[in-house]
Amino acid sequence: MYAKKLLEKLREEKRLSKEEFVYLLEHREEVREDAAAIARDLGNRYYGRSIYPRGLIEFTNYCKNNCYYCGIRAANRNVKRYRLSKEEILKACENGYALGYRSFVLQGGEDPYFHIERMEDIVASIHKRYSECAITLSIGELDYDRYQRLFDAGADRYLLRHETANEEHYRLLHPDSMSLEYRKQCLRDMKKIGYAVGTGFMVGSPYQTMEHLAEDLLFIKELDPHMVGIGPFIPHHDTQFRDKPAGTVELTTFLLSLIRIMKPNVLLPATTALGTIDPKGREKGILAGANVMMPNLSPVMVRKDYALYDNKICTGEEAAECCICQSKRMEMIGYQLDFCRGDYKELES
Ligand code: SAM
Ligand code: FES
Repeated sequence: MYAKKLLEKLREEKRLSKEEFVYLLEHREEVREDAAAIARDLGNRYYGRSIYPRGLIEFTNYCKNNCYYCGIRAANRNVKRYRLSKEEILKACENGYALGYRSFVLQGGEDPYFHIERMEDIVASIHKRYSECAITLSIGELDYDRYQRLFDAGADRYLLRHETANEEHYRLLHPDSMSLEYRKQCLRDMKKIGYAVGTGFMVGSPYQTMEHLAEDLLFIKELDPHMVGIGPFIPHHDTQFRDKPAGTVELTTFLLSLIRIMKPNVLLPATTALGTIDPKGREKGILAGANVMMPNLSPVMVRKDYALYDNKICTGEEAAECCICQSKRMEMIGYQLDFCRGDYKELES
């Protein structure tokens, strides 16, 4: 009963205390269906039955960081490293544009080869050729000046998951060279500059507790981002977390519902990781309140090498095949892919 009351409070007030979130998470089976129904209804109110596809271009798997969970971390000697050239990136955009995409995401490890001048040039070239398209970057931590320069070059969105909002938990997932405080500062800087900002976290990451998840939700409330990317943690065989269990569909989808209810107009992807742990994972994500998909536009020959975790799906299909497959999947559950920029909609007062 109390869980239902809390869900109702979240719907009305758009906030709960940490203790209330923990209670709701622990008693999620009592309210899972209700939460999904409320979340779907709110999502439909803002975005209808449209699912926005973002064409994902994973342009480098080099990374100077060593996040303990990540398959492409610097210390992993078994990764076949690759970088796409500017021409290959533009080719991927051209291919995506022809398929209808009006939103591109450039994602990569933190690769010093793609220094600021190189990235500015790439972003400006995409912006010049496809001026009506949204350009999202997901290339990790930079300083204010560099974020500003990339924004000025034409990038309008940035994804940087905070990974976990709890300091101690952050320390268990990252080496000492990385800092949660700096990551949070990056997110605030991006907002100040004017990016549409996305943050997020992994569900079921090693040592994660319900209290940590409650803190993640409170951090999202405080930051008030435009996008939130959450997906299950999935172990990678070449990391120290190889034997840790993956996150679950049921907890991930419940969190998607809570995030949608807390922030009804947020852009919320049903992630590839969710589709990896369950063949119907992305559909379940949409039915829990998600409204974005990120099909892969990277050249097929490099897809397997961008292995953040084991058994990643969609590494063999050409972009066109992915489009057909995703469209069908969405239609089966009463939604459709909408190939517009898919901008954030302001909250109705
Ligand atoms: N370098 C950029 C950054 O740090 O934001 C973007 C690339 S990074 C690989 C993108 C996201 O992948 C991370 O934010 C993390 O949440 C997710 N990720 C990494 N390893 C993962 C794993 N084993 N399971 C699930 N997600 C993972
Ligand atoms: Fe850098 Fe994963 S450690 S992308």
